[in-house]
Amino acid sequence: MSIKLLSSPLQGFTDFRFRNAFHHYFGGIDTFYAPYIKMNGKLIIKNNYQRDLNPENNSVPELIPQVMTNNPDEFLFALNYVKSLGYTELNWNLGCPYPMVTKQGMGSGMICQPQKIDEVLHKAHTESDMTISMKMRMGYDEPTEILKTFAILGKYPLKNIAIHARIGKQLYKGGVDLDAFEACLKQTPHQLYYNGDITSVNAFRKIQQRFPEINHFMIGRGLIADPFLPSMIKNDTTEYPENKWQIFKEFHDTIYQQYDEALSGPTPIKMKMLGFWEYFSQSFDNTPKVYKAIKKAGNAVKYKNAVNEIFANQKR
Ligand SMILES: Cc1cc2nc3c(=O)[nH]c(=O)nc-3n(C[C@H](O)[C@H](O)[C@H](O)COP(=O)(O)O)c2cc1C
Repeated sequence: MSIKLLSSPLQGFTDFRFRNAFHHYFGGIDTFYAPYIKMNGKLIIKNNYQRDLNPENNSVPELIPQVMTNNPDEFLFALNYVKSLGYTELNWNLGCPYPMVTKQGMGSGMICQPQKIDEVLHKAHTESDMTISMKMRMGYDEPTEILKTFAILGKYPLKNIAIHARIGKQLYKGGVDLDAFEACLKQTPHQLYYNGDITSVNAFRKIQQRFPEINHFMIGRGLIADPFLPSMIKNDTTEYPENKWQIFKEFHDTIYQQYDEALSGPTPIKMKMLGFWEYFSQSFDNTPKVYKAIKKAGNAVKYKNAVNEIFANQKR
């Protein structure tokens, strides 16, 4: 069975610059999801979202925009906006776990409100012909919350439901709940995609063995921590390419240069790259030492020196 690998969106990380460079240097991902658009009650799409979704800025084979809202009008507005750019699908985020979002009844805080989900999907399906897909956790307080939404979701021709196998109140702590994910599989006619903690080829193999009926897997943090992971999963190998560190360095230099051009002032670029190194450092032999060296680098020259040294010290 051929499998599809999808890049799970990470706000602040997987924007168009990252996605384009990732696809160019590593490959292995069939479909990229853009981080969510959020409108905060206004029917306006902010410039940074516009830039991220502009087809001229995107060179990956397939990109699917995402929205986070609990408002039927906002949802329809986002559908029409992404349609005007030429997209045919919009993904709906019912997974975000952060209290700022969930307390407003959005993200995973909306899973326990099937009636509200129905209102959004009803308007969207009556007033738009766009394809809609979902990305959700299994609940906020309990992993059974999602099961109660299936009766509502089952009324609509959703393309798929991607499930991050955690609940909102866990944030990113604790493990994924595979038994609860299995319960979902039995209770919905919709196609489910698996998401959560695919951090190595062996972790992927375990999930695949447990759920042979799943053929779409979303990878989020794992592909930033190890960008070779998707292509290695596709090639069913645990062997890295010979020139692993050269490719990684070229990828790093490409995104660094692009973010440096796009961000103004020394602090934003430092924070941006530090965010990436929190994940990248996991690929290196001495993770805490590598992260500390980047954190300590106080200016652009020191940063570049630190990066050169980190890559030079890496044997294989
Ligand atoms: C910093 C950060 C930002 C995220 N932003 C989004 C987002 O914009 N949309 C979304 O659906 N999920 C978002 N997520 C969740 C991830 O896409 C993914 O579902 C989650 O990390 C579990 O998958 P993983 O274990 O493969 O990372 C984010 C996660 C993190 C850590």
